[in-house]
Amino acid sequence: MAPLDMKPNELESYWVPFTPNRSFKKKPRLFSGAKDMHYITPDGRKIIDASSGLFCVNAGHGRDKITKAIQQMAGQLDFAPPFQYAHPAVFELSSKLALMAPGDLDYCLFANSGSEAVDTALKVALAYHKARGEGGRTRFIGRERGYHGVGFGGISVGGMVNNRKAFGNMLTGVDHLPTTYNKSKQAFTKGEPEWGNETLDELTRMIGLHDASTIAAVIIEPVAGSTGCIPPPKGYIKKLREITEKHGILLILDEVITGFGRLGYAFAAERYGVVPDMITFAKGITNGAVPMSGVMCRKGVYETHMSGPEYLVELFHGYTYSGHPLAAAAGLATLEVYKEEGLFERAKKMEPLFADAMMSLKDAPNVVDIRPIGIMAGIDLAPIEGKPGLRGYNAIESMYHDHDLYVRVTGDTIIVSPPLIVSEAQISEITDKLRTVIKAVA
Ligand SMILES: Cc1ncc(COP(=O)(O)O)c(C=O)c1O
Repeated sequence: MAPLDMKPNELESYWVPFTPNRSFKKKPRLFSGAKDMHYITPDGRKIIDASSGLFCVNAGHGRDKITKAIQQMAGQLDFAPPFQYAHPAVFELSSKLALMAPGDLDYCLFANSGSEAVDTALKVALAYHKARGEGGRTRFIGRERGYHGVGFGGISVGGMVNNRKAFGNMLTGVDHLPTTYNKSKQAFTKGEPEWGNETLDELTRMIGLHDASTIAAVIIEPVAGSTGCIPPPKGYIKKLREITEKHGILLILDEVITGFGRLGYAFAAERYGVVPDMITFAKGITNGAVPMSGVMCRKGVYETHMSGPEYLVELFHGYTYSGHPLAAAAGLATLEVYKEEGLFERAKKMEPLFADAMMSLKDAPNVVDIRPIGIMAGIDLAPIEGKPGLRGYNAIESMYHDHDLYVRVTGDTIIVSPPLIVSEAQISEITDKLRTVIKAVA
């Protein structure tokens, strides 16, 4: 037994997710506070947050209104059973979301993470077809380079190889559309590129191969986020909506990143003028302050389930923490902040300026592509030969330890997506710091 006065190695036990643990524990990067556009380190440094935490803190950190709403609810109702019972705030939040979502996406199922929202949407798609007497529709179609979280459903329809390769067969009967990214045709494009709708021919081919009667749903991110910010080609989402609709295939837009203002709208579906059958959301719904996610479903999807005796459960699905009171309170307060400060419109207005700032990094060393859209941009750095990901990891270390900058890096790609409150001066500051970091890891 360890002597009572022995201090454990506090860095050891925590298995840090999506992180190289051994390197991290040698030189950890910790945040112990946050306010508005900045993180605070335990040694008191202010680090500018250029990725909204993890694409979630859209209104900036430590917003009083949200903090107070959470505190107030914690004192009033710590927990309410979500099965067979509910609480008022979750109804209020659902109603507000129904008003915000396009078309008749009027029904909301809640969960706690983007991964759970995706699993929920996939299950609803299967149950919907079964309820309509088309239970043969079990196949899902995702997309290469897609990220839909880390549940078995999400990694199955996802298309990022490192997230899949260690985990066996996953869901069967899943196909993937090609990525819309083609560097030789799209490099350094602002917003939606011209090229790429050709990749949808593959969907028509898959429908021909499997027959539409076996396909339940297509799921994509409107802008592929975690893989490095890949905007959709012009007209792609509309065309995808047309094809899926024609064949009775549900379209699920995974808006875990693109929801709540990132592209200048409540949901990207609005930017692209489509009404999908389901939208998955998370992150920005509570400004990251309390875990919450959900799925907006079209009226027809909900109503299809509303049959059978009224005393029987219609959908055997839900989580202990679905629509948790603290999350619902945070969500309601967050939506108020977005509205009061016009943050979605602000993002739309700032998009050209943000894109120009990002594009100004074109001549920095090793920059091989920049893809800005909304208040988000992917910046690809050429990998160090034979060591993919090392330049990116060096950038993470350099940003934190030497340049007081935080930006999400995946592989050798930097994904900039600051809170929507970012000022012009802060965009310049972020750009300058990025240039310095990119030079430092050259
Ligand atoms: C599009 C998309 N779907 C799902 C997820 C998974 O969300 P979570 O990490 O909350 O499970 C993410 C996370 O980044 C995402 O970007």
